[in-house]
Amino acid sequence: MRLFIAAATVSFVLVSVATQIADAPTGFDNKTNGMVDDATHQADQTKFEEVEQLSDGLGPLYNAQSCRECHQNPVSGAASQVSELRVGHQGPDGRFRTPDIPIAHGAEVISGRSLVNDRAICPNAAFPDKEIQERVPETETIRTFRVSLNLLGDGFVEAIADQTLIELSKEQCKSSHRKICGQVLYVPIVEAPGQMGVGRFGWKDQHASLLSFSGDAYLNEMGITNRLQPDEVTNLCNAVSEPNDTTGADGLADIDHFARFIRATKAPARDAQLANGAAAKKGLSLFDKIGCVTCHVATLTTAPAGTKINGGTFTIPPALGSITLHPYGDFLMHDVGTGDGILQATREHYGHKVFQLMSDYLSKQDFESSRNKIRTAPLWGVRLRPRLMHDGASLTFLEAITRHRGEASHITQQFEKLKRADQEAIIEFLKSL
Ligand code: HEC
Ligand code: HEC
Repeated sequence: MRLFIAAATVSFVLVSVATQIADAPTGFDNKTNGMVDDATHQADQTKFEEVEQLSDGLGPLYNAQSCRECHQNPVSGAASQVSELRVGHQGPDGRFRTPDIPIAHGAEVISGRSLVNDRAICPNAAFPDKEIQERVPETETIRTFRVSLNLLGDGFVEAIADQTLIELSKEQCKSSHRKICGQVLYVPIVEAPGQMGVGRFGWKDQHASLLSFSGDAYLNEMGITNRLQPDEVTNLCNAVSEPNDTTGADGLADIDHFARFIRATKAPARDAQLANGAAAKKGLSLFDKIGCVTCHVATLTTAPAGTKINGGTFTIPPALGSITLHPYGDFLMHDVGTGDGILQATREHYGHKVFQLMSDYLSKQDFESSRNKIRTAPLWGVRLRPRLMHDGASLTFLEAITRHRGEASHITQQFEKLKRADQEAIIEFLKSL
């Protein structure tokens, strides 16, 4: 556990504590990790759980009414079984193209995003004759589902220095004799136009900042425009002016509360009983020995408190600085043979303004080569996820493991060569995470 010292009163003590590395607090108790007080965390959680209505600006196209609808198992901020639909097609040059989706009997075409929203607000009382439901056209032959992700502990993930992930990628490549080389993607920080960071959030590492992600999710999942994503996906059936998310009396908008809520969460806790059992311990050493840890990295450390990240817009607070976390992931992109062929949709994730400002940079980024790569799934809390892999299509741990090919082929072969009891020990270890 970490000792907290009021910075202002005993600053000399802080200096000696500054380099002390503490373990990230864990738990599913919805208590703060220490970044804010519990009352503030509760209030932020209430925002995260709020159900948005038409009058709040919900939609016109959306997937759900609340962040909690998709991030709640077993508590707010965690993952869920809810999956989303992404589609696209191959252009004549062989490159990925986002879909063109006609809505309202072809009156408008939605383009520039790979996400297909499953819900729409009309027809409704105000627009009884408008029909704007998105449907996948026959032309969009590249398709996938992507399941919701866990957010607990993500404040620590955000506080990992870019350089740590860059070095991890190099080290991985070297130690595996270039068989396993996690790809680093530099992505725009939406709240700091023109600045980039190493992507670490989302199945495609599409964001580096939790505030950027919150703005993206509020628009694309719920249809709530906000200062980072001020443009509606469509104005058909739209009755509320933009941005829907405005600043409250405390100077914060909903997206600021979401980001602070996520940043202040504790990391997922392990199942104490299983973790201390002989089988899980043996499983961990085998997980290590056959090389699962090359990608599912056991320990990472955050940058020191006071470090500025996200293009200088966020300073790592004491509760998130110099902390070790055990995510069992490297937050890098890999081809493990499961790729869904769908690229990061830059206009969708970063909004029109940043897309235009950085279009030159974005077009030079090697996104195309990451088309069939997926971020290593962090395994913390995996025991609580019954549908595995990005598409939720693997229903047992054994199926998920044996599905790994590509960069992980030689590791999967090692796993397949293990005695049945040893394979079971690895699965027992996964059940303890
Ligand atoms: C309809 C379901 C749904 C809703 C509603 C939703 N999310 Fe998500 N969330 C997802 C899915 C699916 C992913 C993975 C997306 C991907 O990478 O393609 C995700 C990923 C995330 C991530 C990245 C986590 C990580 O560790 O990589 C963050 C942060 C996030 N969501 C925040 C939010 C916030 C904040 C809200 C509310 C504004 C929200 N989400 C609403 C489904 C949802
Ligand atoms: C080359 C890197 C790499 C190696 C090595 C690797 N994995 Fe993975 N693992 C991934 C990636 C990437 C995903 C996500 C793939 C997807 O969603 O399509 C993943 C997903 C998983 C999942 C699903 C988690 C979830 O939340 O859905 C499990 C379980 C898993 N790996 C276990 C293992 C085990 C056990 C080993 C060793 C036998 C291993 N992995 C080796 C990269 C790797």
